[in-house]
Amino acid sequence: MKTYFVTGGAGFIGSNFIKYIIDKHQDIKIVCLDKLTYAGNLANIEEELNNYPDRLTFIKGDINNQELVEYIFDTWEINYIVNFAAESHVDRSIEDAEVFLKTNVLGVQNLLNIAKDKWDLGEREYRNDVRFLQVSTDEVYGSLGKRGYFTEESNIQPNSPYSASKASADMLVRAYNETHNLPTIITRCSNNYGPYQFPEKLIPLMINNILNGKELPVYGDGLNVRDWLYVKDHCRAIDMVLEKGKAGGVYNIGGHNEETNIKIVKTLIKELDNLLKENEAYKEMAATKDDYINESLITFVKDRLGHDKRYAIDPSKIKKEVGWEPTIMFEDGIVDTIKWYLDNQDWLKLITSGDYKNYYEEMYLDR
Ligand code: NAD
Ligand code: DAU
Repeated sequence: MKTYFVTGGAGFIGSNFIKYIIDKHQDIKIVCLDKLTYAGNLANIEEELNNYPDRLTFIKGDINNQELVEYIFDTWEINYIVNFAAESHVDRSIEDAEVFLKTNVLGVQNLLNIAKDKWDLGEREYRNDVRFLQVSTDEVYGSLGKRGYFTEESNIQPNSPYSASKASADMLVRAYNETHNLPTIITRCSNNYGPYQFPEKLIPLMINNILNGKELPVYGDGLNVRDWLYVKDHCRAIDMVLEKGKAGGVYNIGGHNEETNIKIVKTLIKELDNLLKENEAYKEMAATKDDYINESLITFVKDRLGHDKRYAIDPSKIKKEVGWEPTIMFEDGIVDTIKWYLDNQDWLKLITSGDYKNYYEEMYLDR
């Protein structure tokens, strides 16, 4: 029976990953450590915590907390660390970078150091039964022009404080692999979309604003390009890399789904309008929306500072070495995503009202 130590598991991708592996591998245990910052929401994994009390343990805490991380290693026999915990929003890093360095750099160093000691690597060669997987980002490669793709060999040229902090963590992970034989893996993924994404990121923010008849703030000319990947495809990739990836390896993960921001926003307006008009299930909701779901909501606003122009991933290494490729077409994934937000209005309201912050206390009061 393997034990996964998942950090940041109450956030967007981490919670999707817990759902994916708890269902896929019936014989594993998961210990989730999450600080429950503004981006952490225990409601994201409430169902799993209720359904699998023997297989999933939640611990509220910081990846920087040495004593707590050591306690986790002493209490469970950890096979895999999958580190999702991070400050993840570029705009916030432009406002104030400090917490990005604390969590994304020092926090990772704390995890690496404890893993090195507790896995007792000493002078030994790689242990093949353990892995430290750092969830990184394509943003460490900087920005592309009109052509070309990021490969694992591309230069590391981060442009925002967020991506600089993630690149720094990648360097530390590399160093612990080289210096201490820690069996690490780094994955660098493009933009994720799907259920449970915090509504400050482009897609859920726009969905929420459309539903509430609010302006849709598109930065600059809207022509910046992102390479969109459905979150479940990402989770499957991480699961496969843990099993089949080479220790010390770096794997790019991308969806072959490049699109401009303005096209994404227009697609959301069109698909949301279609769903509300044509789907019986949303008839009641549609009746309250009048006619405001149209492109007049789009507002071009001041550009993000240092706004990377284009990201695009070449995922051929992970396909060749691990056998992973994306399976969910953007056209399908985006409709499923919009449906999820329509079906989970309570989840959105829990966040927009701020009530999700009380979830931890409410859930753990009786335990
Ligand atoms: P998120 O912001 O939704 O979730 C981050 C989680 O980490 C939250 O639950 C938060 O409470 C927790 N956390 C923050 N600081 C912590 C700390 N000090 N100790 C413990 N927990 C802490 O982020 P996400 O979008 O799910 O991203 C997860 C990871 O994937 C991040 O490392 C991010 O850099 C990376 N990534 C994200 C994307 C994307 O499109 N969202 C793409 C590529 C890589
Ligand atoms: O590429 C991977 C990265 O993707 C991850 O490492 C980050 O954690 C994740 O947040 C994401 O970063 P982006 O900056 O690309 O995502 P965001 O959703 O913030 O913005 C996507 C694009 O949309 C970007 O070009 C900025 C633009 N944008 C964003 C917002 C929030 C707007 O035009 N308007 C907005 O209101």
